[in-house]
Amino acid sequence: MPKSIAIDGPAGAGKSTIAKKVSAELGFIYLDTGAMYRAVALKAIESGVDTKSREGIIRIIDNINIAITHDNNSQKIFLDGSDVSEDIRTGEVSAGAANVAAIKEVRLKMVELQRKIAGEKDVVMDGRDIGSYVLPNANLKIFLTADINERAKRRYEELALKGQQVNLDEVKEDMQNRDNSDMSRAFAPLKKVPDAVEIDSTSMTIEDVAEKILYFYKNYA
Ligand code: C5P
Repeated sequence: MPKSIAIDGPAGAGKSTIAKKVSAELGFIYLDTGAMYRAVALKAIESGVDTKSREGIIRIIDNINIAITHDNNSQKIFLDGSDVSEDIRTGEVSAGAANVAAIKEVRLKMVELQRKIAGEKDVVMDGRDIGSYVLPNANLKIFLTADINERAKRRYEELALKGQQVNLDEVKEDMQNRDNSDMSRAFAPLKKVPDAVEIDSTSMTIEDVAEKILYFYKNYA
């Protein structure tokens, strides 16, 4: 049975940075599940379909081809054959991803792919429902949080560094909207499960968080 570490938490808590580091350290693959919901949203936007339209989105996922590749711990995501790893990182796609992620049919399709990958290889998987729904038997479950102002600041700096025109207040508002939507959806909402270790990364470095997770994995998983 391949090994798995689930890392869940709100937007911008540092899940992907940490998951990459921990997976590199352990020789696991890293699976960023948010990228899949983002790819669905990108396809909807490109096809002129409202990301809140259940019927429209169900039509989209009936005809979608999402493929993930892993190379040296870096994930690439392909939408209908094209590499969209960068195109999915815009504010519009972020907001759209939270909309499509609230649709049960979308989640069922993405979860099938996520479980297939976890069934084949040791994985560090990050998302919102990994410990609670996708991999309920994960060897270790982490719930990673941070103060909203710190999360917004980190995301703002990340986007600004990539040359995107962003505004800190808008980044914060987008995060709060996505968190609210993720926590309140009916199917597989974002929540901390009782067997998850909660880590608040507000005043921790990336190295400290990664070290803590590795410690828990080596000693308790
Ligand atoms: O993790 P990331 O911010 O890239 O995820 C984009 C959106 O996809 C989230 O705001 C959330 O709505 C959705 N998502 C989800 N379940 C996951 C991963 C992401 O609902 N496992």
